Amino acid sequence: MKHFLNIHDVKDLNALVQEALKCKKTPKANRKLGKNKTLGLIFMNPSLRTRLSTQKAGINLGMDVMVMNFAGEGWALETEEGVIMNGDKAEHIIEAAAVVGSYCDIIGLRSFPTLKDRALDYSDHVINAFVKYAGVPIVNLESATVHPCQSLTDVMTIEETKSRKKPRVVLTWAPHPRALPQSVANSFAEWMNRTDYEFIIANPEGYDLAKEFAGKAQIVHNPEEAYKGADYIYAKNWSSYEDYGQILLQDENWMVDERKMNLTNNAKFMHCLPVRRNVVVSDAVIDSKHALVIREAANREFAAQAVLKQILNNG
Ligand code: CP
Repeated sequence: MKHFLNIHDVKDLNALVQEALKCKKTPKANRKLGKNKTLGLIFMNPSLRTRLSTQKAGINLGMDVMVMNFAGEGWALETEEGVIMNGDKAEHIIEAAAVVGSYCDIIGLRSFPTLKDRALDYSDHVINAFVKYAGVPIVNLESATVHPCQSLTDVMTIEETKSRKKPRVVLTWAPHPRALPQSVANSFAEWMNRTDYEFIIANPEGYDLAKEFAGKAQIVHNPEEAYKGADYIYAKNWSSYEDYGQILLQDENWMVDERKMNLTNNAKFMHCLPVRRNVVVSDAVIDSKHALVIREAANREFAAQAVLKQILNNG
């Protein structure tokens, strides 16, 4: 693996998931692999899980790890090429990426979308500029369109908890007071589409994901219909793709609650976190034995480790 930008960088999904599960069993087994290598983690946006789990993954592999919050600590970045930089942006991403690349052997980058300009966001221009100018492998820690470290973790978590070979997995939209990116949902959909699971996306009218991510998923606009017989309920809010970045409704019937969970096949509840209790999911569901959210967050470390290991092994 050269870069880890999205599902297309994964040749063998099952092998990568098995590698993550192996890392979980013996996290310190490859401490020499990353010796004298530096991992740089660059955040343009807030993070808890991604920041700490990727840092821990690098440490497990013997890497030196540097973390920088660009939004609060770096110079304001210009990302458009060919502009006259006489405004408030002091540094161009061309130099910034190259400089970070000169200090690091691998860079992890988080950069959220604007949710204003769909064409710009869906070009994933920030992470692609790092690929172009940093000169070292890039790991996507959530870009404008996808969150592959989260999705690898989600597949890993389903694989280690599933009670039948081809579970029925439902990605359900849930309400939220703020407009959120489509990246986790996009990514979860494209990774599910690479498995042989039964995969359903449940979302209100106006919230269909881009076809390139929804792929072959069955799409329903009625939550009860989707929940029936489900083995996994994966909840996430996303703002509208069609009416780009807009909140079209706040209907609490879409919140994950006990009533709808009772329609399922004893489904496990999943969410990438952070989650708003009693908005996205009721206390009763997230506090129940069916919730996998802490296991999912813990697994982020080993998913990141499997990715870093493949990149390090690639030389
Ligand atoms: N799930 C996830 O990416 O969490 P953070 O935003 O806290 O990193």
